[in-house]
Amino acid sequence: MGNIAKSSAQLISSFLFLFGIIILFHIKSPSSEFSSTWVFSRSNNPVDTMVEKLRDSITWLPLKDLRFVDSAMTGHTWFMSSLNDTHEENEAEHLYFPSEKSKNRLLCIKGKNTNDGTKNSYALAWPESLPESAIVLKGLTFVSYTYYNHQNLWHGLCATAPFVRWAMKNQCLKPTRWVLFHWGELRFKMGSWVSNIMKANFGEIKVEGFDQGDGPYCFEKAVVMRHDLGSMGMENKLKVFDLLRCKARNFCGINSGGRGIEVNEKGVPIIRLTLLMRRNSRSFKNASSVTDIFAKECERVEGCVINVVQSDDLSFCDQVKVMTNTDIVASPHGAQLTNMLFMDRNSSIMEFFPKGWLEHAGIGQYALHWMADQSGMKHRGAWWDPIGDDCPSPNDDLHCFLFHKDGKVGHNATFFAEWTEKVLDQVRLIKLEQATRNQVKNQFKLDICVC
Ligand SMILES: *[C@@H]1O[C@H](CO)[C@@H](O)[C@H](O)[C@H]1NC(C)=O
Ligand SMILES: *[C@@H]1O[C@H](CO)[C@@H](O)[C@H](O)[C@H]1NC(C)=O
Ligand SMILES: *[C@@H]1O[C@H](CO)[C@@H](O)[C@H](O)[C@H]1NC(C)=O
Ligand SMILES: *[C@@H]1O[C@H](CO)[C@@H](O)[C@H](O)[C@H]1NC(C)=O
Repeated sequence: MGNIAKSSAQLISSFLFLFGIIILFHIKSPSSEFSSTWVFSRSNNPVDTMVEKLRDSITWLPLKDLRFVDSAMTGHTWFMSSLNDTHEENEAEHLYFPSEKSKNRLLCIKGKNTNDGTKNSYALAWPESLPESAIVLKGLTFVSYTYYNHQNLWHGLCATAPFVRWAMKNQCLKPTRWVLFHWGELRFKMGSWVSNIMKANFGEIKVEGFDQGDGPYCFEKAVVMRHDLGSMGMENKLKVFDLLRCKARNFCGINSGGRGIEVNEKGVPIIRLTLLMRRNSRSFKNASSVTDIFAKECERVEGCVINVVQSDDLSFCDQVKVMTNTDIVASPHGAQLTNMLFMDRNSSIMEFFPKGWLEHAGIGQYALHWMADQSGMKHRGAWWDPIGDDCPSPNDDLHCFLFHKDGKVGHNATFFAEWTEKVLDQVRLIKLEQATRNQVKNQFKLDICVC
């Protein structure tokens, strides 16, 4: 092993030495006639020969490596499996090209296949000896790989948020393009919500379709993320969500500091309670009685204002607006709750699950609870519907989960009323404290997005 490593190091350094010669040639030969002669003639010149050999020795590997099918999401993942991530403390794992780690080679991709990731491939190549007929894509490219998808609000956000964090650390750089992969398969767009939040953050960015010919395509500069939020630390997640909130509000023409301290005519702080409804799967079985329960509890608390909205009917900016004006969001479990990030920090979430989730959904059901922590919100608990059909094969968790996944959510009037009363009281105390402390200064500080 040691010998192989040593001899390949020697080989590489002799290549680097030869490149040194190429550069010297360029400097010493202002005559374009001369340089064109040596670039294009396959003479016996040892430098040309070496460049040709380098070009021919580029190794293409499948973007999706089936050897890692059982650990597709862990370690280096099955996507670009030969490459090790750069780990920085409390940051999502990433790859950057060209870098010292890539020995200054660029990332090249042959990646047009949209239904078999093993048919797409990648390679590293030195700029001086790019693969035959390579097309170089200039500028900075964000290559986003996700095991899930770029459509769903939650999954799309998890895939793209690490780029926001990376940019924060790198002079707020904006990419020239996105390249999207799922299981090594090329994807052409993000879901509309995901696309909008990225637009709010980076401006309008092209999603690459590799449509300038067969390629291969090589990136002048590329950042690859393939672990979603990965090992990003809590503090950094909070920073990312603060920035996304700030940018989204700006984008939608809302004061990015939020609505500040809002009081009624008697000087009592306003508490805004939003029921964020869904249609079809995981909607409330009886939405009007659920609404009545919340409305009744809200009425009992001075300053409480209730708002009932259908999340499916709202444009991106309407979602941002509604959530900016929300202190407590009550909603069935679902991607629409990803919108919680647009509330002011420390706002509250009440979550509802249909029957079967508690028993069969595993830890994934806590994703929005975690998101609340990561975005600086307070998750005020969840209610799991105990009533509903029983799963026909109770020992098969996956089967049962799929059986219950899209069920509807009932209600328990007593429980909902007591719970709502308690949360309203907690929020009322926070609001009173805020009003006395008068956080106007803090709000102004939030007004300027860090990127
Ligand atoms: C990646 O990391 C593993 C384990 O740390 C190591 O054995 C391997 O040589 C590394 N590969 C590259 C290409 O750096
Ligand atoms: C919803 O509940 C109310 C009262 O609890 C009841 O009157 C109504 O019929 C129910 N609606 C449906 C669609 O079940
Ligand atoms: C959020 O609440 C915590 C106490 O739970 C408090 O220390 C913190 O200052 C609050 N943050 C904001 C932004 O209001
Ligand atoms: C409804 O909630 C109350 C209060 O938590 C509880 O005592 C009661 O058993 C619940 N009813 C049902 C049918 O689960």
